[in-house]
Amino acid sequence: MKVDAEILKDFEERLNPAKPENIKILGYGEISTVFEIPEYPGIAFKRIPMFRSVKQVKKYIDTYFEYVELLRMAGLKIPESDAIYVTTSDGRIVLFLMQEKLEGIGNKILQNATLKDALDVFESVLKEMKKVWDFNDARREEGLQIGLDGQISNWAICGEDIYYFDTSTPMIRKNGVDKLDTDIFLRACPPGARILLKKFFLQEILDRYYDFRSVVLDMIANLFKEGRSDLIPPTINLANEFFEQHGYAFEPIQRKEVEKYYREDAFIWSLYLNLRKIHRFVVTKILFGRYEFILPGKIRR
Ligand SMILES: Nc1ncnc2c1ncn2[C@@H]1O[C@H](COP(=O)(O)OP(=O)(O)O)[C@@H](O)[C@H]1O
Ligand SMILES: [Mg+2]
Repeated sequence: MKVDAEILKDFEERLNPAKPENIKILGYGEISTVFEIPEYPGIAFKRIPMFRSVKQVKKYIDTYFEYVELLRMAGLKIPESDAIYVTTSDGRIVLFLMQEKLEGIGNKILQNATLKDALDVFESVLKEMKKVWDFNDARREEGLQIGLDGQISNWAICGEDIYYFDTSTPMIRKNGVDKLDTDIFLRACPPGARILLKKFFLQEILDRYYDFRSVVLDMIANLFKEGRSDLIPPTINLANEFFEQHGYAFEPIQRKEVEKYYREDAFIWSLYLNLRKIHRFVVTKILFGRYEFILPGKIRR
């Protein structure tokens, strides 16, 4: 990808993350914001600030590329991707992850999809996900595992092709140990909440992405957030049939379980976002300091 580090550095020097101007928001995830900048139309940027050292950012980039490579080896289609870090004149280290901008983002397609079209999308997504766990089975001897966040907002449907693009959190485990530098995520939290998050939620949140059934449960529960709870019962049936057909010995997913899961999940993520907003308020309005993250606006749940 032809992106110039100097232009990104200049962008970063001018950016006020608490009140970003001149960027076009493409979408929000739970942690990050994805945007386009006027200099590079057609490229989706994700900005990850607050690295402690060049060594840390370089290691993150390596893990990122390794993850993209492993997903491709598993047979998934990943958009063209790149990574550049900049060091600002006041010494901040900021990473930019870049991707070809895609159309046909799953949750947008789902908004007005008929039941049949929606189920076709879910079926393709399940097949893509299965590739990851087939890959993990094949690599078990080596102690290698990759994980995935299967939510519908992480897939793009482009004609016959389906792309997975939420690769910015590299989920690779070697002999059960995450390669991901969780420090960089904890730094996205207000200081007081870090210990709490690390102690009670982090391991559980990470574990779920390595377990096929949990990833599917998470995808289904997220349909509440996407405003298509009507699709939940038929999707549960589809998933349970899929598991059975392919010989997975999972407990069937149940509607009650999906509801309970969603309530807890929505609670964790709202808490997280609210704490970050309070932190931003304190830093910018009381301490008159610089707040490092571009936060989403209000998310409907
Ligand atoms: N390459 C891309 N092209 C177009 N939109 C994108 C692209 N990458 C992300 N987005 C938009 O941004 C949203 C959040 O991106 P994602 O990578 O899933 O971040 P997160 O890890 O925070 O969930 C996506 O659901 C989508 O709407
Ligand atoms: Mg996402």
